[in-house]
Amino acid sequence: FSVPTPINEPVYAYAPGSKERALLQEALRTARSQEADIPMFIGGQEIRTGNKGELRPPHDHKHLLGYYHKGGKNHVTDAINAALEAKKNWEDLPWEHRASIFLKAADLIAGKYRYKLNAATMLGQSKNAYQAEIDSACEIVDFLRFNVKYMSEIYSQQPPVSSDGVWNRVEQRPLEGFVFALTPFNFTAIAGNLPSCVAMMGNVVVWKPADTQIYAAHLLMEIFHEAGVPAGVINLIYAHGPDVGEVVFNHPDFAGIHFTGSTAVFQEIWKTIGTNIHKYKSYPRIVGETGGKDFILVHRSADIKAANTAIVRGAFEYQGQKCSAASRVYIPQSLWPALKELMTKDINSFKVGPTEDFSNFINAVIDEKSFDKLTRYIDQAKSDEDAEVIIGGEYDKSVGYFIQPTVILAKTPDYVTLKEELFGPVLTVYVYEDEKWEDTLRLIDQTSIYALTGSVIAQDRYAIAQASDALKNAAGNFYINDKCTGAVVGQQPFGGARGSGTNDKAGSMINLLRWVSPRTIKESF
Ligand code: ALA
Repeated sequence: FSVPTPINEPVYAYAPGSKERALLQEALRTARSQEADIPMFIGGQEIRTGNKGELRPPHDHKHLLGYYHKGGKNHVTDAINAALEAKKNWEDLPWEHRASIFLKAADLIAGKYRYKLNAATMLGQSKNAYQAEIDSACEIVDFLRFNVKYMSEIYSQQPPVSSDGVWNRVEQRPLEGFVFALTPFNFTAIAGNLPSCVAMMGNVVVWKPADTQIYAAHLLMEIFHEAGVPAGVINLIYAHGPDVGEVVFNHPDFAGIHFTGSTAVFQEIWKTIGTNIHKYKSYPRIVGETGGKDFILVHRSADIKAANTAIVRGAFEYQGQKCSAASRVYIPQSLWPALKELMTKDINSFKVGPTEDFSNFINAVIDEKSFDKLTRYIDQAKSDEDAEVIIGGEYDKSVGYFIQPTVILAKTPDYVTLKEELFGPVLTVYVYEDEKWEDTLRLIDQTSIYALTGSVIAQDRYAIAQASDALKNAAGNFYINDKCTGAVVGQQPFGGARGSGTNDKAGSMINLLRWVSPRTIKESF
C-alpha cells in the first residue's frame, strides 16, 4: 500500500462576521461556562484520583476552567503496565490499520473538533485565534497526515538486491518496551505529535504533558480514542515530574523518550538514562527538542520593510513563546534609524489582552513563574548601563500575565539578554557597524549555544551566501528573507542541534525512523 501525499490543512481566517468566527466564539463561551473535570487516561479508563490541580486561563487567572486529577507513582506504573499489555495486539496490527486510525484522528480534528480544540488552546495556553488555528487545527492535522505518508514509505523500502534462491527483506519492528512522551505547553500540535508518531510506528506510549497544557491534551486524548486508538496504546498521566521520572527511567522496558521542553530538563533526563543504562533491555532512543536563542541578522542590503515584518512577527507572535521565536536581532547602523521607526510603530500598535477579544494580537505569558522571570530581565535592563528598554517594558499580572511587547537595545554584544533564553515577548537588538558584517557573523556563530532557528535578511546574494556558510551549524532551520518561526509540516522539517536538541526533525521520516528497530531477514530457498 501507499497513501497519497496530503496537502497542508487550510488555515481558517476567522474574519469578522464569518461563520467560522461565530462557531469559535461559541466554543469559547461553552468552554468558559463549564467547569471541566479532567481525568487521566490509563488503559483506556478515565482515572479520577480526587487529588485535583486547577486549570486557569493565563490571561484571566481568577477564572477556573476546571480541575485535573493528579496521579502518583502507582499511576505511572499502571500506565506502563497498560502500555505493555496493549503492545501485544498493537504491534501485530498491520500498519495500514494504524494509519487509518491516525488519519481518522486528523479528520476529527480538522472537522468535528476544530473549534473545540482551538478554544481549548486559546483558553488553556492563551493563544489568539490565528495562533491557535495554525497550531491545534492545522499543524497537528499535518503532523498526523504527513507522518502516515512517511510511515507508508518507510514500510515500503526494502533492500534493492536479492539473488536467485535468496530473498532479503527488512521488517521495521517497533521498539521492545514502551516509549515516554514528555510534551510542552506552547504547541498543542507538538503535544499531540510526540505520542502519536511514536504510536503510529507500532509502539506503546506513556504521555505526560506540561501541567499548563493539560486542558488541550486531554481533549486530544479523547479524540485519539474516538478515532480508534485502542485502550492502553497511549496513556495520559498528570503527576509530579520527578515521581514520573523515577518510575519510568528505572523500568527495564523503558525503550525511548520523545521530548520537547527545556534544555536543563533534557540534560538531566539524559544523565539519568545514562546512569541507568544497564537496567534496560536495549539502548533507549533519546529524541529531544529543547531550547533556542534564535537570531535574525539584517544585512545593509536588506529591504527594511521585509526586515521589520520578519522581526516583529518572529519575535512577538504567541508572545515570543515559540522555541523558534526571534529573541536577538543584529541590525546594521545604517538601517537602524529607519528600522527602529518601523518597529516602534508596529509594536506599539499591537493590542495586548485576553484571547476572547479577537483584536488582541498579544495575550498573556503562560504562568506566573514565566511572568516573574521575564519581568526581572526587563527591570534589570531598565537599570543596566549597557542596555536600554526602547519599546514597551510595562507589565501587569493583576488579571492575567500580561507583558507589553518589549525591545531592549543592548550596547555590548555579550549583554545577558543576547545570550540567555527568555521565552517571552522580549526582544534584544544589537546594532553593529556596517563594515563589521563578517565579525558579526562570527559573533552570532560563537554565541549560538543553541542552534534552532535563524534568519538572514539581505538582498545582496554574496551576503546571503556568506551568512548561509558562516552560520551553517548555528540553526537547524535557516530562513532567508523570512521570519524564523512558522515551519510547516511537509515543507520545512523542524529541529536543531547544539543545545537545541537531537535534530531529529519533527514531521519527517528521520523522526519516524527513530521509533523502529529494524530486523533484517535473509531467507534462502
Ligand atoms: N515549529 C514551530 C515553528 O517553526 C515551533 O515556529
